[in-house]
Amino acid sequence: RSLRYQFETDSTNSWARRQAEAGEPEGTVLVAETQRQGRGRMGRAWSSTPGKGLWFSMILRPRLSAADLAGLMTLTAVSMARAIAAVTGTAPDIKWPNDILYRGRKLVGILAEMKGELDWVNYLVIGIGVNVNHEAADFPPELADRAGSLRQIAGRNFSRAELLREFLAEFERAYDDVPANGLAAVIQYAREHSATLGREVTVSQGFGRTITGMALDLAEDGSLLLRDHAGELLRLSSGELIAGA
Ligand code: BTN
Repeated sequence: RSLRYQFETDSTNSWARRQAEAGEPEGTVLVAETQRQGRGRMGRAWSSTPGKGLWFSMILRPRLSAADLAGLMTLTAVSMARAIAAVTGTAPDIKWPNDILYRGRKLVGILAEMKGELDWVNYLVIGIGVNVNHEAADFPPELADRAGSLRQIAGRNFSRAELLREFLAEFERAYDDVPANGLAAVIQYAREHSATLGREVTVSQGFGRTITGMALDLAEDGSLLLRDHAGELLRLSSGELIAGA
């Protein structure tokens, strides 16, 4: 695999998509010190203070269908949670489907974008933003009570290069293990470090649709099992938690 670095780009996800369109093979990792237009899920902006965080994207060309993407998102979040635990000595929590939190504050956001059909993925770009060395004043005021950083876990700065190395080693090991052993170990880690299970949550499914219920478990493919107020068991493969966790 190859690693590319730019001091500044629009968004590492947009950069990765341009590279993927131009034929870049699976495994390329693109890192930037800062992004002019970092993007979050649900059309939101992502703040990328220069020098403070780790902002990068990976190009993958997995042999799987869109239905397997929830599992791959869990695998990504679990690999980053493991890397953070290795580097800081403290295991963070995973908020379904793939935010990483510490004491309720968001440390990591993941944005996946894919091109393909339902049963065939041409390329998948997974973009990851980690708040590493931010102090409270480095976040925009509107994020002040929701965002956290690795520095705030441990009271010291961390090497972003070392965090990236740890993550890539964890991710590669888990990704290469899927064809033979599936996702069971990843899902088990996500269960044990979940900020979501056992809580009453509201999930936005887009287009103004929301579902509220008790988060019971993660299924073997990474989807969330909920019991709604009518007692019905629901299985959600994607969405966004807007309340509860
Ligand atoms: C979210 O939680 O809303 C997802 C945030 C994803 C941010 C990362 S930073 C690197 C990559 N490039 C982007 O423009 N977004 C992702």
